[in-house]
Amino acid sequence: MYFGVVSLFPQMFEAVTNYGVTRRAHERGLIKVNCFNPRDYAYDKFKTVDDKPYGGGPGMLMKVQPLCDAINAARKDAPEGTKVVCMSPQGIALDHSLVARFHDWGSIILVAGRYEGIDERVLQKEVDLEVSIGDYVLSGGELPAMCVIDAVSRLVPGVLGDIRNAEEDSFAKGLLHYPQYTRPEIVNQQSVPKIILSGNHAQIEQWRLQQSLIRTYERRPDLLKSRGINKLEYKLLKEYLQSKNIQDVDKILMTYLGR
Ligand code: ADE
Repeated sequence: MYFGVVSLFPQMFEAVTNYGVTRRAHERGLIKVNCFNPRDYAYDKFKTVDDKPYGGGPGMLMKVQPLCDAINAARKDAPEGTKVVCMSPQGIALDHSLVARFHDWGSIILVAGRYEGIDERVLQKEVDLEVSIGDYVLSGGELPAMCVIDAVSRLVPGVLGDIRNAEEDSFAKGLLHYPQYTRPEIVNQQSVPKIILSGNHAQIEQWRLQQSLIRTYERRPDLLKSRGINKLEYKLLKEYLQSKNIQDVDKILMTYLGR
């Protein structure tokens, strides 16, 4: 998987190439991260990469020419036809399905803006898609770009030791992850749920599914609504809601049915 990165702070991407799962993926050549710094394409004495916005307003914007030249250098380095994605709070929301689409592309150029933003004409001419990692504003697109690199890398075959890891990740199934436990069996008077210790894999799997459903229902009902639930999942959630003495369980759960 090829990641071209356009950023004024290429060293930040050492966080990806020097640590953990992504470091190993990088070392093994499963992912490639090549950075292009607009500063290297600024040709005035001060290597200027920002300028004041027309019409006034706070802060500075990234200048067109150094940014476009850096993007085009990245295009030349990348496989032909590689799409350009700009990280921005104005973008469409990043989620698992978008991460999976980026992985399918096989290569991507990520533009990380700084200052108050980017001249709109760069976005119109050079950028295929703007993507946001959430409804809050960060000081630059580097951290969001690293989120994309990390999340996409996890889908590259061989990056995670066991392929099941990626498939069991939160959101791959459209549900939040179930609770997990490791040794010791009792710690601070808190014990591991008995069923996990039972060795009955079918029961453990069903318990995990139920826990995932409960968590998603309680914390992210929006996810569960758009995903829908099947008959078994309905039954597992109903069992839980009834145990909590919640009224009109069927009426509530009918709105989640869909698969
Ligand atoms: N740049 C600044 N804030 C951002 C966000 N929330 N998502 C993507 N890029 C950003």
